[in-house]
Amino acid sequence: MKILAIETSCDETAAAVVEDGRRVLSSVVSSQIDLHVRFGGVVPEVASRAHVELLTPVVAEALLEAGVDGKEIDAVAATAGPGLIGSLLVGLSAAKAYALAWQVPFVGVNHMEAHLHAAFLEEPDLALPVVVLLVSGGHTLLIAMEDAASGSGSGSGSGSGSGGAPFPFRYRLLGQTIDDAAGEAFDKVARFLGLGYPGGPAIDALAATGGGDPRAVAFPRAMRAEGYDFSFSGLKTSVINYVRKHPDVEVADVAASFQEAVVDVLVTKARRAARELGARGICIGGGVAANSLLRLRILEACVEDGITAFVPSRAMCTDNAAMIGVTAWYRLRADGPSPLDLPALPNLALPFS
Ligand code: KG4
Ligand code: ZN
Repeated sequence: MKILAIETSCDETAAAVVEDGRRVLSSVVSSQIDLHVRFGGVVPEVASRAHVELLTPVVAEALLEAGVDGKEIDAVAATAGPGLIGSLLVGLSAAKAYALAWQVPFVGVNHMEAHLHAAFLEEPDLALPVVVLLVSGGHTLLIAMEDAASGSGSGSGSGSGSGGAPFPFRYRLLGQTIDDAAGEAFDKVARFLGLGYPGGPAIDALAATGGGDPRAVAFPRAMRAEGYDFSFSGLKTSVINYVRKHPDVEVADVAASFQEAVVDVLVTKARRAARELGARGICIGGGVAANSLLRLRILEACVEDGITAFVPSRAMCTDNAAMIGVTAWYRLRADGPSPLDLPALPNLALPFS
């Protein structure tokens, strides 16, 4: 089954063709960063207008790269939420139109569930249960991903079940941020340090190549020893206060010390969760999972603990449509097609059991 998948939840216009939820025949991502950079962040109205202009050529390129004709597409999927309402509507409306024109099923996909599934494209034999650290610009979630057939509880939002096949996964929320998301903290601190937008890659690069000392400033590690929730807004304020008090501090040292504090908390909690749950591995996803230090520390922690680290490629961590195609395949088999009047759902949550 070949699924054409579309992702337009934020500032990437993306389309992909994915076969049987496993094989990526094409994955095209057109970033709008250049349009938003002068505003220091994503401007929703600019983003949705750009999606309107970019989507048709991006879909055409995805079909061309996959070497398939529209007539060979068996289903069309798009992100239904969470995300920016105007941006979501562009991809969702286009996907419905393609599905209607080609007379194939339409599937609305949860963007966060797609981030959870991204690792499966590169690690098809991922052994469950795994602890997943989902860290993006809008979310910081620690999740236990389990085999729906094992243990207690029902499957994760198995929906109407009209597709017939059982949904294979169950998600349990272990913890989440109580204030800023990890990516939001990177973006706000980078903005304050004058490193531009998006902040995550800028801090990552400066910490790695700018010779920053991660021990230069001992920034606080909020809630490090308590539970599985996270808090990053105090850390952001500490950075601001420190730089105001020490205006001559090396920016690279601040960037490296800030990054060290975020990664320390993320890895400590993911590792403790994996140990307490007896997980087979730790998986990372979302834009912040592209961070070099986080990737390294997760790998080191998993080697030390004798479990598997699932660290998807950077392209699979940041927003893309291939991950939408995998999720659509599972959801279509389990729940059947989505109705054509499915609305955009800006606050759509993950279906936790
Ligand atoms: O998942 P994503 O592409 O979009 C959503 O938020 O859904 O994540 C974007 C976030 C931004 O906050 C960006 O600064 C952060 O991911 N990010 C990074 C890195 N690359 C992207 N944060 C830290 N290090 C990176 N290398
Ligand atoms: Zn995302």
